Amino acid sequence: MRSRRPVGEITRGTTGHNRLRRSDRWITAVHGPLLRSAGRPLVVDLGYGASHTTTLELFLRLRRVCPGAEVVGIEIDPARVAAAKPYETEGLTFRLGGFELPVDRPPLLVRAFNVLRQYGEAQAWDYWDLLRSRLAPGGVVVEGTCSEVGHRAAWAGLDASGPRTLTLSARFGAFERPSDLAERLPKTLIHRNVPGEPVHAFLRDFDRAWAVSAPLAPHGARQRWIAAVEALAAAWPVHRRPPLGGRGRWRLGEVTVAWDAVAPARGE
Ligand SMILES: C[S@@+](CC[C@H](N)C(=O)[O-])C[C@H]1O[C@@H](n2cnc3c(N)ncnc32)[C@H](O)[C@@H]1O
Repeated sequence: MRSRRPVGEITRGTTGHNRLRRSDRWITAVHGPLLRSAGRPLVVDLGYGASHTTTLELFLRLRRVCPGAEVVGIEIDPARVAAAKPYETEGLTFRLGGFELPVDRPPLLVRAFNVLRQYGEAQAWDYWDLLRSRLAPGGVVVEGTCSEVGHRAAWAGLDASGPRTLTLSARFGAFERPSDLAERLPKTLIHRNVPGEPVHAFLRDFDRAWAVSAPLAPHGARQRWIAAVEALAAAWPVHRRPPLGGRGRWRLGEVTVAWDAVAPARGE
């Protein structure tokens, strides 16, 4: 018997203006060409929360780089869908649903932020699989977590075959050392920040590179971050060229590393 109940559970609806600007900026830079390759790309914002704000911000930012982009905000809480409906406009709609993604055509990009955090680790992997299976050919999922005001963020980039990248992004001045971002790791990694796990070694080495780059601090945290990422890239498969890497990205307080290097250790 088919159930029409959305897949997932209603969770806390915390959100806020500009909270997701760091990942929006990454999405437009990294996936702008993908979106422009389709005439009317469908983008899903899954789990937008108590207000439509972050979905509207994503829509406006995407429209600047891809005028044909259409965005659907999906929420599992009917009250949050009702609250967002008045803000619908040409190319921006809101609808009730869950991880099954009840949309009329496959999305080219799915963004889910601060959603999977409230599920279990095994569920997070299962829902990644479900989301990936719903993508249009060449499509991507961006799934992550951020601090309340968005100054510290981390997200995974996935395509149909699985996770491909991990990105850390922080406002200068909002952290003491790179491993402070560990608390924002995606659900599939957050419990793996323990000795013996690759993501733990990555953050440890990033902290060391940050410490070694301390002499650059008088020139500003930006210069220190760039130097630390360059040092880190000597030992880790950090993306070094645009759109995922290079000084243009690093100067924003960002770094993207190949997922395989930080993926959970096998045999757990
Ligand atoms: C913490 S809010 C995040 C809001 C926004 N994305 C942000 O980052 O500011 C999480 C939202 O995800 C919704 N949610 C949880 N599971 C969901 C699912 N399976 N499908 C759609 N929405 C879901 C919750 O109801 C909640 O409103």
